[in-house]
Amino acid sequence: MSTAHSVEPAITIRRATPHDAPSLVAILQGIAAERVYSAIDVPWTVAEHQKYLAALSPREAVHVAVAASGEVVGFQTLDLWAPTLTSMAHVGQLGTFLTPEWRRRGVGKALFRTTEEFARKFQYSKIVIQVRAMNEPARAFYHHLGFVLCGRLAKQVRIDGAEDDEILMELFFIARTRLPDEGKETGEFN
Ligand SMILES: CC(C)(COP(=O)(O)OP(=O)(O)OC[C@H]1O[C@@H](n2cnc3c(N)ncnc32)[C@H](O)[C@@H]1OP(=O)(O)O)[C@@H](O)C(=O)NCCC(=O)NCCS
Repeated sequence: MSTAHSVEPAITIRRATPHDAPSLVAILQGIAAERVYSAIDVPWTVAEHQKYLAALSPREAVHVAVAASGEVVGFQTLDLWAPTLTSMAHVGQLGTFLTPEWRRRGVGKALFRTTEEFARKFQYSKIVIQVRAMNEPARAFYHHLGFVLCGRLAKQVRIDGAEDDEILMELFFIARTRLPDEGKETGEFN
């Protein structure tokens, strides 16, 4: 279990417990209502979220950002990319969710510092994220953390009749050299 971190005067990062489920659901409901930042349009219920938190394997974690008031203002998930495949046990997937008031104040970055520490400790060597193509703030955020674009799933999300692509971005903890012809099809991989 990773240690609790104080990241700025007002925020503490700690592991989530099933008791945090109502807060996490409230945050996701807000983001789902915004319609543009996530593929999640119908968030889990509190009971479903409690079940998810209780069932996390020892190598998976949810970290929450808690304001001085005690309010959970954001969270970050680290799940195995493919829980049934030992061949992909080194690959994690990430999700980050903050209330609007706490965005662009360094909370996402602080959450990732804690998640990264956890992931390295538990022998992950790469992390993948899926982010909606139109979600420029999240793409900028993950780029800032060192993630690079590695794929695109066209028309993967449909919400309110509007379609969006999903962007795949990856981060290697150990630097990897791309093959000379990798990404040539689209010219967009960096
Ligand atoms: C995307 C999100 C997780 C980013 O977290 P955050 O706490 O706001 O980001 P930080 O303040 O830690 O930003 C770190 C860096 O990321 C980049 N960044 C973050 N938000 C940005 C934005 N809106 N526009 C441009 N760059 C941005 C910047 O480089 C920033 O550094 P800087 O502020 O020194 O310039 C948060 O805005 C959020 O929860 N959004 C709604 C839900 C969502 O889109 N989740 C992602 C789904 S995959």
